[in-house]
Amino acid sequence: METRLIKISTENPESDLVEEAARVLKEGGLVAFPTETVYGLGGNGLNSEACKKIYIAKGRPSDNPLILHISQISELRPIVREIPLAAQKLMDAFWPGPLTMIFPKSDIVPMAATGGLDTVAVRFPSHPVAMALIRASGLPIAGPSANSSGKPSPTRASHVEFDLSGKIDMIVDGGAAEWGLESTIVDVSGDVPVILRPGAITKEMMEAVVDQVLIDPAILSKPSVDLRPKAPGMKYTHYSPVAKVTLVRGDGKAVIYKVNELCAADKAQGKKTGVLATEETKEQYQADVVLSLGNREKLEEIGANLFRHLRKFDFLGVDTVYSEVFSEEGEGLAIMNRLNKAAGYHQINAN
Ligand code: TXA
Ligand code: MG
Repeated sequence: METRLIKISTENPESDLVEEAARVLKEGGLVAFPTETVYGLGGNGLNSEACKKIYIAKGRPSDNPLILHISQISELRPIVREIPLAAQKLMDAFWPGPLTMIFPKSDIVPMAATGGLDTVAVRFPSHPVAMALIRASGLPIAGPSANSSGKPSPTRASHVEFDLSGKIDMIVDGGAAEWGLESTIVDVSGDVPVILRPGAITKEMMEAVVDQVLIDPAILSKPSVDLRPKAPGMKYTHYSPVAKVTLVRGDGKAVIYKVNELCAADKAQGKKTGVLATEETKEQYQADVVLSLGNREKLEEIGANLFRHLRKFDFLGVDTVYSEVFSEEGEGLAIMNRLNKAAGYHQINAN
């Protein structure tokens, strides 16, 4: 299959191009599109065949459900069985935006979209191209991240091209994804909302509009038989580059010393080494490839660059990557969750 690449303006999406991409979706095809979090791989979320094609293109396990994307609140009602009060408050506060909510699903949502679950994940993205495309299609659009299963989510059209070219009908290039980490997922189907995947909308932000929000304990540690994440996709530790990633904890100077020692040992074995550093420390590492995630104090920069840099290490053929760690406060929880997954929960202490 030939994959068409089209560029659409984020400021002012050209309506003829949006219509063209929407037509592919209406005909059951797959279109990768930009969102404010990461690129999504879109297909008709009410059509089992289109959903199945998504799983095949990504190489995704069929028990890992898809998120349905809508472009106005009125599109929620037909796909869910009920809208709990907490969900209403959260959508008033954070939609459109990087928040996905889990609802009991209605009958029109096929099991192919929900991986056999009777709940459905719904998101209303704020990216102008995503909104225009979903609206023009007139459909809820199933949209997992547009990467090959197991790889870091794509934050650029070029990442999608690298993973999925030849496997999907079209890629809509709308520039860099602003947040760079996938949306927060919150389950609103029980009494108290529970965060299943941390993202840009934090527990503290949600607790400003609802009384209490819990965090699925599986987010903070390695998934196990006793601690199974409620979002099926969160159980996969393969979320990672080819390089072996290790997180290094400790005081600033001790981390630099330890990482340089480890890199020297790796190099002696003929390995190509990489470091995920920050603006504050990048000059002090002696690795083959040192990439700065940004200013340590600006978590939004760190989050926006993380997946891009993980992909770059692969591109450059790096064998081992050592990464600094960050606070788990606020958006830091999402960053540390993704870093831990990329590292297969492999951490060492430098002190
Ligand atoms: O930011 C995002 O959410 C991006 C953009 C494209 O919108 N999408 C995305 O989709 O990250 P995906 O498929 O890569 O991740 C969806 C996650 C998976 O971990 C999946 O297991 C979980 O959502 N999920 C989907 N439906 C669910 C459900 N009914 N119950 C629990 N978890 C669900
Ligand atoms: Mg994904």
